[in-house]
Amino acid sequence: SKKAFIFDLDGVIVDTAKFHFVAWQRLAASLGINFTEKENEQLKGVSRVNSLKKILEWGDKEISPELFQEKMDQKNIEYLDLIKTLSVNDILPGVHDFLLELKSQNQPIALGSASKNARPILEKLGVKDMFDVIVDGTNVTKAKPDPEVFLNACNQLGFSPQDSVVFEDSVAGVQAANTAGMISIGLGEKDILHEADAVFNHFTDMPQDYINTLLNKKK
Ligand code: G6P
Ligand code: MG
Repeated sequence: SKKAFIFDLDGVIVDTAKFHFVAWQRLAASLGINFTEKENEQLKGVSRVNSLKKILEWGDKEISPELFQEKMDQKNIEYLDLIKTLSVNDILPGVHDFLLELKSQNQPIALGSASKNARPILEKLGVKDMFDVIVDGTNVTKAKPDPEVFLNACNQLGFSPQDSVVFEDSVAGVQAANTAGMISIGLGEKDILHEADAVFNHFTDMPQDYINTLLNKKK
């Protein structure tokens, strides 16, 4: 049997959250806003524009549309600088083997990410060609927790949502998968991702033959 396997990027395939954090923290500081790991957690899976809106809200700050655009551009320049040395060594534990196993079973693989930097990042990691479909921040209009990104991915693969599995590290992403009616697998902490159908710290913590378990799993 087959299912559509849909992967989030940041925090699932590669640990870019620490770089997003540094870039957002610098930006927040430039506006006199305090920004900690706790706030960063809430920005996981959240698009660039919505992230800046939230930071301004938390800091109770209003800025002009021009400055807003300038800050967004600046954030991405700093982020791109921070990730410029990303390589195959930065793929999170177990992900590469999991993708290889899916490939050997001819299972369809998609990316479902809010990031506009997704394609160049997958290239740096050397895994872009393993994805049959890539849906990223340049393709979607509605951000997670809206299910658009995942529905778009499973449609392109020709699968129905109930035959799709989503791997996510963010609360918004798990909610998006659940709203779509897809099996949601959380990567991270159980207490944060408690809405997911199953949670693992890393792909390496999944039981033997977990792909087979997923193929037989019903939502
Ligand atoms: C992912 C990350 C978010 C990030 C968003 C947009 O969802 O978890 O932290 O803000 O992508 O990424 P981008 O690369 O387009 O700024
Ligand atoms: Mg993520």
